[in-house]
Amino acid sequence: MQWIAKEMGGRVEPAERREYGPAVLSIEDRANHLFRNFPSSLKIWNSHGDHVLSLPPGFCGTGKTANAVASMENGEQRVYAVQFHPEVNHTERGTEILRNFLFEVCKADAKWSGAAFIEESVQAIRAKMGEHYAICGLSGGVDSTVAAVLVHRAIGNRLTNIFVNTGLLRKNEFEHTLDMYRERLGLQVVGVDASEHFLEKLDGVSDPEKKRKIIGKEFISVFAHEAAKLQKGLARGDIKWLVQGTLYPDVIESVSVKGPSATIKTHHNVGGLPEAMPFGLIEPLRDLFKDEVRNIGRDLGLPDEILVKHPFPGPGLAVRLLGAVRRNDLDTLRAADAVVVEEIRRAGLYEKVWQAFAVLLPVRSVGVMGDGRTYGLTVAVRVVQSDDAMTADWVRLPGEVLERISTRIVNEVPGVTRVVYDVSSKPPSTIEWE
Ligand code: XMP
Repeated sequence: MQWIAKEMGGRVEPAERREYGPAVLSIEDRANHLFRNFPSSLKIWNSHGDHVLSLPPGFCGTGKTANAVASMENGEQRVYAVQFHPEVNHTERGTEILRNFLFEVCKADAKWSGAAFIEESVQAIRAKMGEHYAICGLSGGVDSTVAAVLVHRAIGNRLTNIFVNTGLLRKNEFEHTLDMYRERLGLQVVGVDASEHFLEKLDGVSDPEKKRKIIGKEFISVFAHEAAKLQKGLARGDIKWLVQGTLYPDVIESVSVKGPSATIKTHHNVGGLPEAMPFGLIEPLRDLFKDEVRNIGRDLGLPDEILVKHPFPGPGLAVRLLGAVRRNDLDTLRAADAVVVEEIRRAGLYEKVWQAFAVLLPVRSVGVMGDGRTYGLTVAVRVVQSDDAMTADWVRLPGEVLERISTRIVNEVPGVTRVVYDVSSKPPSTIEWE
């Protein structure tokens, strides 16, 4: 809306009060296209620092918040704009706003379906790859798994997958996931346990960006080494393609757009591997959001266990252990994290929340256990609701669940004497702590 306003002759300026988070939209004209037959006010979600001070000629404001014009349209030129985020869950009737735009204004056809997407992707992958071979780095998460299964459907065992244990995965995750890939999904997977190697390189490193760089670099080196071995083993020696489970939010958050929304964190491994390796990229999920990927996975027959699995950062537990990475602390964090996830499952909440995990803080505080005074570590529990990780809200967990998590962590995880619950939303906080 700001761009349209500026380009078409209106005025946009930095606002005195930035608008972040929830707000109430007053709808000025309920007959307009986007809000047709809506109530006179809606809860919406904002995230902006500039606002539109005057509308371009020919436009009328269709909604406002306490601080700013929040939507406008020019019926004659058929231009419609909102300044808030209709795509996030916290905006009431957001999907309807988008539907109204697509189907009422643009008169689009609703012909996208999971089955059609799979069929088209399989054809496109076959055509693009020809007779060549491909490799894929599996992370244990839903995105790379769905990408691999889709490509496997297209080219069968000409796809080899590599799954690396970085030593930064959750409790039992490596063994368990490898087994699922092979036994239940029938994928061809090379499992590489490089945990010692990663931990050696990370020992004592505390700067998060440095951690990410080291992990990224080591991952590429392990991956390239395995790929070279595979390349040699093939009669035709022609692995030409690299499959990645890149999603649309990864593309948006990683692409360097000019301005502050640019590289918020150098996460998401988009663009990491190809520069180092001579492969063409196959990214079949690049245009999709997470919920769409889960639906595609369901249509492909993936087990629920993988479909509902919470997202996990590429650098793994290293960015959930604030401060220096040390083996002992990783074990502590892994044990605390397992308690959080178990209790969230037990409460029937695992599938209802976006992510639930533990963070280990390098903060010691005083405690008392038995007759003794202790000086132990602090675990922060983070449970958030989100649709696509671009915005998130903390989950109002029932008191009993928090209590069980806290009691169990303090009782079962040596060295931890304090548990705190994170009550911040994104923005302005992020989901991960580093
Ligand atoms: P933030 O912390 O930016 O997280 O709100 C948004 C989503 O991205 C995940 N995340 C990462 N994923 N490498 C990744 O592959 C990273 O370094 C990284 N940092 C955050 C996070 O778990 C959440 O789902």
